[in-house]
Amino acid sequence: MEIIKVNLGARSYPIYTGAGILQNLGGYMRDLPVGKNVLVITNPTVRHLYCRIVEESLAEAGYCVTVGEIGDGEEFKTLNTAKSLYDLAFDSGIDRSSPVIALGGGVVGDTAGFVAATYLRGVPFIQVPTTLLAQVDSSVGGKVAVNHPRGKNIIGVFYQPRLVLADVSLLKTLPPRELRSGLAEVIKYGVIWSEEFFTWLEGKTGLLLACETDALTRVVRESCRIKANVVEEDETEGGLRAILNYGHTFGHAVEALTGYKKYTHGEAVGIGLVVAARLAESLGFLAAADCTRIESLVSRAGLPREIPENLTPKDIVGCFYHDKKTVGGRLTFILPGRIGKVDIIRDLEEHLILDLLRKTRGQLEEDKGMGQF
Ligand code: NAD
Ligand code: GLY
Repeated sequence: MEIIKVNLGARSYPIYTGAGILQNLGGYMRDLPVGKNVLVITNPTVRHLYCRIVEESLAEAGYCVTVGEIGDGEEFKTLNTAKSLYDLAFDSGIDRSSPVIALGGGVVGDTAGFVAATYLRGVPFIQVPTTLLAQVDSSVGGKVAVNHPRGKNIIGVFYQPRLVLADVSLLKTLPPRELRSGLAEVIKYGVIWSEEFFTWLEGKTGLLLACETDALTRVVRESCRIKANVVEEDETEGGLRAILNYGHTFGHAVEALTGYKKYTHGEAVGIGLVVAARLAESLGFLAAADCTRIESLVSRAGLPREIPENLTPKDIVGCFYHDKKTVGGRLTFILPGRIGKVDIIRDLEEHLILDLLRKTRGQLEEDKGMGQF
């Protein structure tokens, strides 16, 4: 087991990482000044797989546990779900000292975190992420939110957990598609922060896709260290933290225009990583060889890299005006200058993005045409 610390003054917390550590949850919580009445929030899939280990560990450490279930899927990340959890918290006597524990992927973590942040103006929150995406990204950094019918993550706050436990052995039961989706956020960290990590990923993709424990452990630890560094510098996204959104502007557009059904969040981010790299190359910021390395790694991770044909460049660009990074109509993009370093580019002119998207589409159609002869 290794602890990675997120240093945020009074809101600092440990991330416990390793394989086979879920059963120690109750023990790790002993150092926290929290009450003995605990609400665990999970979904039916994860409950069936891992809730018993959590309940036994908590009972052994003297906690009294209530388990609350939410539906499995993005469509359950809503205010309605939060309301049903407030009812359960009330009925089970949760007070200001009682921890809420999220046991699940990003959907459970974001929803449970939103409930913990708002119930009684905030109760202690603990993250036990069970997907790769949640272990490397959503459980760390304190963004919690639910969706609004008009958009994703529209209703939320920054609320840091008191403890994160990331047990990579839980990833063995993850559907392969979800494992690949998590790798999109991992590749993101290589591009925005560390060429060394990116190069290591290039050599280990096979092991990661085969769920090899040591490789996954390194990925989770390195990703959490990078995210902790960024969040320590800029907790509430006044500046630097925006780099964590590399690939997400195009990704969010693809997700929104396909009704959040065709792609997982990670798959849409995979497309976004590639398209943002191509934009950087077309603007002369990124060398062609680096762009190719990003495209290849996304492909090797089994992620899609092209915007679906039925979405027009105008549709895509239209979405950017609802992106949280777009303020006052100024289009802002996170673009790589090389692998390991990105810049925040403000006031990008719309036609430059439209040109790139049209050019890529033309190129793809040309390639397809060639294939027919
Ligand atoms: P998810 O929570 O929907 O989980 C994916 C699927 O895997 C679900 O069906 C779940 O039941 C199943 N599952 C979870 N753990 C499992 C396990 N160990 N074994 C078998 N099945 C398991 O999806 P996700 O990719 O974890 O999270 C996506 C969500 O995270 C989105 O809502 C996104 O907006 C949010 N997100 C938040 C942040 C943040 O900073 N808060 C960052 C990135 C993404
Ligand atoms: N997932 C982006 C962030 O935490 O800021």
